[in-house]
This record gives sequence, C-alpha cells and structure tokens, in this order.
Amino acid sequence: MMTAEELQAKLQNVKINGAACSYTLEKCERLVPLINSINEIKKIRNAVILAHSYVAPEIVYGVADFTGDSYGLSKDAMGTTADTIVFAAVRFMGETAKILNPGKEVLIPGRDSGCSLADVVTGADVRALREKFPDYTYVCYINTTAEVKAECDVCVTSSNVYDIVQAIPNDRIYFLPDKLMGRNLQDEMARRGVAKDIKLYEGTCYVHEQYDPEMIRFMRVKFPRLEVVTHPECSPEVVRASDYVGSTSQMIKHVSQSKEKDFLVLTECGLVSRLQTEHPGKNFVGACTMCKYMKSNSLEDILRVLIKPGPQDRVVIEEPVRKRALACIEAMFRYTEGAVPRNA
Ligand code: 13P
Ligand code: SF4
Repeated sequence: MMTAEELQAKLQNVKINGAACSYTLEKCERLVPLINSINEIKKIRNAVILAHSYVAPEIVYGVADFTGDSYGLSKDAMGTTADTIVFAAVRFMGETAKILNPGKEVLIPGRDSGCSLADVVTGADVRALREKFPDYTYVCYINTTAEVKAECDVCVTSSNVYDIVQAIPNDRIYFLPDKLMGRNLQDEMARRGVAKDIKLYEGTCYVHEQYDPEMIRFMRVKFPRLEVVTHPECSPEVVRASDYVGSTSQMIKHVSQSKEKDFLVLTECGLVSRLQTEHPGKNFVGACTMCKYMKSNSLEDILRVLIKPGPQDRVVIEEPVRKRALACIEAMFRYTEGAVPRNA
C-alpha cells in the first residue's frame, strides 16, 4: 500500500510550466486511494498496466508495470503473461499490443485516445497511393491505425526509423504519415550518403510542430552550456539546432548519461516530469507542451476499465486486418533485432 507522503516524496520535483502541475500533499491524499485500489484489482484480474511516458506522473509512478517508448512498450506487451493489458496511452499503442497478443484482453482507459498523426491517414488512402506509386516500399510510423499497418510493408518507430529505412533494399520509399519526421529522415539519409527517393505524406504531430529554433537560440543565450534534447517529430529546423535527437526512451537515456546540468527537452510534458523525478540534480528549462490525447488517461478511468470495461474500452481488430498488420510489425522486429522476438 502506498501512502500520500510516499507519493509526494516521489513526485516532489515535478513542476511543469512553472508550478502549474505540482504534487501537494492534499493532491497526493486524493490520488493514493485510487492507486491502492488499482494495484489490488490488478492482482485479482492478472492484469498489467503499460504506460507511455507522456501520461500523468501518478499513473507512471503509481500503477504502471511497464513504462517507455512505443518500441519498448510493444516488446513489453509481447513479453507479459498477464490475461489483461491496460494500455494508458493512445489507441494506436493499444492496437499494437492487441495485434501482438490476440488472445489477451487489451483495454484503453483514455477518454480521447486519438493522435493527430494516426488520425490523418486511412487504409483506403494507402491503397490509393499504392495504385499511383506501385514501385515504392510503404513504411509507416507506428503512430498509425491497425488498418493502415495492414496496408504497409514495414512499421518503424522514432527509435529505429533511420536505420530501418537505410537497410530496406529499395531506393523508393513512401514514408507516412509524419511529414516532419519524414523531412528529418531525408536529411539523415543525405548525411549518411544514402541515396533514396523518399515520398512523404501530409501529417504532423500537433504537439511537436509547435517548437521553433528561435526559442532554442534564446535559451542558449540564457544558459550557455544548455543541452537541447529533441524528439524527431519536431521540424528539421528544430532538429538541426538541437544537440541530441531520439525517441522518448533514448532521450531519457541521453539525459541520464550526460554530464551537463541544464537541459531544454523538446517533447511532451510527461517526459519532462519523468526527468525531473529521476534526475533531481539537473535543471530542465523552458516550457513543454501537453498532448491532450495522452493526458486524457486518468486513475479514475484505469480503475473503471479494470472493474467494468465497456465495449468502447476494448480493442477489437478483425483477424484478417490483424494478421496483415502483424506482418508489418514483424518486419520492423526483423530489421531491428534480426528476428521476431518470442510470442508474436
Ligand atoms: P516514442 O516512441 O518516442 O515514445 O514516441 C511516441 C509518440 O507518440 C511521440 O509523440
Ligand atoms: Fe500523437 Fe503527437 Fe500525442 Fe504523440 S504527442 S500521441 S504523435 S498527438
């Protein structure tokens, strides 16, 4: 059983956008009964909770069994022996868990579990593109629906996109749907001397497209030894002005290994909360941006779906779509690890 004092001690360094989000003892006293109920019911139901680093800190540090980036969480979903997976994130991540675990119940507690990338392209859109550009290999970002993955050849995440696209034995690539990540991919292939014709789709992440290089320049004047750590969904102008670019888990690893003290972290606020919690000696400057989809997860809804899930909380994917989407995800595992990990 967790106490309010323990939760407050854990989250005392979280201060997002000034003190707009901070953990007082009163707040922790309200959260702790929910945390303890969820942890009890999880055991009874043989359930695990997977949480993306962007969800609220009380979920990450109170009830989650696994936390991480899209790639790590897909692997965690595959490795679990639980009967039920509660995925505190967004729908496409829950769908990925279901594609990999057809026999398990996958529940998504988010009230608004969309994603500005996943919502911008449909399976029919990809079929139309294939008719127009038949010679291309279709590479989809993991931020896509199961229906879109079913129409594509290889799935990628922010942690492996550059290496996978480089390794694909076709110099014609259609990358979708993130136009900004796609432009970063074009830049990186040019930097590596890899000649590929890479076509892009018109999608952006509404959180990451907001950052601009002017703000980086301003912060560097204020903090001369600043390290700028950026997600590849940001624009190429921001990426070029940064010191390190990687997935959310790669960003955490980079900051934990860095000798520097001042950081500007250009991604969703949840990641900054994790860094403030795990690295109290470091200084995180500037303002982060919130993803309304990730932040629509709450302890109340996690408890609700564990007790009495409704049809809207369950991930259901038709078997022919699931099988084709699985082939797309397995292609990613083969490129990344040389083989498909167990259980797929
Ligand atoms: P990561 O795979 O880097 O965690 O990214 C997921 C995401 O949605 C970023 O906006
Ligand atoms: Fe989608 Fe952007 Fe939210 Fe990530 S941060 S889930 S890409 S809307």
